Amino acid sequence: MKKIIIINGPNLNLLGKREPTIYGSNSFEDFFKELKSKHSNIELEYYQSNVEGELINKLHEVGFDYDGVILNAAAYTHTSVGIGDAVKAIETPVVEVHISNIHAREEFRHVSYIAPNAKGVLFGFGLQGYELALQSFL
Ligand code: DQA
Repeated sequence: MKKIIIINGPNLNLLGKREPTIYGSNSFEDFFKELKSKHSNIELEYYQSNVEGELINKLHEVGFDYDGVILNAAAYTHTSVGIGDAVKAIETPVVEVHISNIHAREEFRHVSYIAPNAKGVLFGFGLQGYELALQSFL
């Protein structure tokens, strides 16, 4: 069975409550439950942290063993050399996901420290982006 993990960064624990016009009104927990039941043939996990170092630790922990990482590093995407380096350091392929269309927003969101080392990048498809990323590993 394939082992895939979704890793979400800062403020994504507030999905559903946070700026719903940009990020929608569904909680990630509800979306994840549905996704997991649709893909019962995959060992699918979910991890969220607001702490940069914890995200790096999780990438190290899964990055030599799992078949895929779906990473929405949220604001750290645009600032974190450390997370970018971790994505480069690990062996497991990483697909970068953003719920919103980061290229239709402020200029600082157009930069990604993850993209150069990602298998691919999906943005602007809402929560569906996570499912598209999952399909890219199947
Ligand atoms: C985000 C986009 C980021 O710019 C922002 O900081 C987020 C969420 C997205 O999923 O659209 O927190 O990664």
